[in-house]
Amino acid sequence: MSGEAKLAHINVPWVEKYRPSSLDEIVSHEEIVRTLDTFLSQGMLPHLLFYGPPGTGKTSTVLACAKRLYKSKEFSSMVLELNASDDRGIGTVRGPILNFASTRTIFSSGFKLIILDEADAMTKDAQNALRRILEKFTENVRFCLICNSLHRIIPAIQSRCTRFRFGPLDPELMVRCVRSVAEKEDIPLPDSGLEAILRLSHGDMRRALNTLQASHLAHESVDQSAVYSCTGQPQPIEIEGIVSSMLNDTFCHCLNHLSQVRSDRGLALSDILTESHLLLLKIEMPDKIKAKLIGRLSDIEYATSGGGNEKLQLSGMIGAFQEARDSVAMEGRAL
Ligand SMILES: Nc1ncnc2c1ncn2[C@@H]1O[C@H](COP(=O)(O)OP(=O)(O)O)[C@@H](O)[C@H]1O
Ligand SMILES: [Mg+2]
Repeated sequence: MSGEAKLAHINVPWVEKYRPSSLDEIVSHEEIVRTLDTFLSQGMLPHLLFYGPPGTGKTSTVLACAKRLYKSKEFSSMVLELNASDDRGIGTVRGPILNFASTRTIFSSGFKLIILDEADAMTKDAQNALRRILEKFTENVRFCLICNSLHRIIPAIQSRCTRFRFGPLDPELMVRCVRSVAEKEDIPLPDSGLEAILRLSHGDMRRALNTLQASHLAHESVDQSAVYSCTGQPQPIEIEGIVSSMLNDTFCHCLNHLSQVRSDRGLALSDILTESHLLLLKIEMPDKIKAKLIGRLSDIEYATSGGGNEKLQLSGMIGAFQEARDSVAMEGRAL
């Protein structure tokens, strides 16, 4: 491959390269795919509302439906796709959306499709204007609204659409998909790397494929440490070290140790908190003390997300762990 060709090859995001092109390539969501398949084979489609966390196949599913409905040469005249980068105020609803919905194409008798990606970013006014169009032009057009959180869509629109919830993907089903991309790209993917990718993706396939691609670009072999260092996440062994230090060392020693690890590895306090909490759940400790400690950790996590002083929060986290340790010791002595 020439240098330029290689660059172009590298630049294609795998999430686009391997986007499912038909409904039967959609992983998980069997029930949804079956229902949509029935709709399509009967040539009918209600207005659709897809909601759920990112990277679960919402956009891919509606695009696969559109590909089945329209031949490629009529696609652009029959499908209008608006996403986050397009303005979604009331002007767009009264302008381009109304325009597209109200005009008929001479050559085709079927309905058109309007895909509104990230519809939860639409203002209330825009949604109210949209609701009229939804009713008025049902003959001519079908809508597919896509969003992350359903509660930001006004009830009047919700009740006019058939809703489908796209939950996080089952890690076991993601395994096959991530493996197959690795095979097609001809990159070695040891089990430890695959496990790390799935663990860090939380059912988000976009994140899984992006992590795979980034780790491969940076490290060639995608093993556990490549994945963790690429995502800037603390490795399980580092978290074990941190938690052990908080439960065994003196406060000053532990603070120095943690500050050092954090600056060496560029770890975010919120990631350390999340992972320590997961490890804590597995550590044996009286329930009452554990519950109190988790409560303190969640307060600290809340404070960091609001932009609190990280150094102070770090000390607070160590203090919380050490207090729990001392409570355990006191309880032991009392027995
Ligand atoms: N259910 C799925 N089956 C197969 N691939 C998926 C699935 N969900 C996501 N992906 C992969 O992740 C990428 C992003 O998916 P997308 O449909 O854009 O997610 P969403 O719209 O829910 O954020 C796709 O290109 C595809 O490669
Ligand atoms: Mg999407």
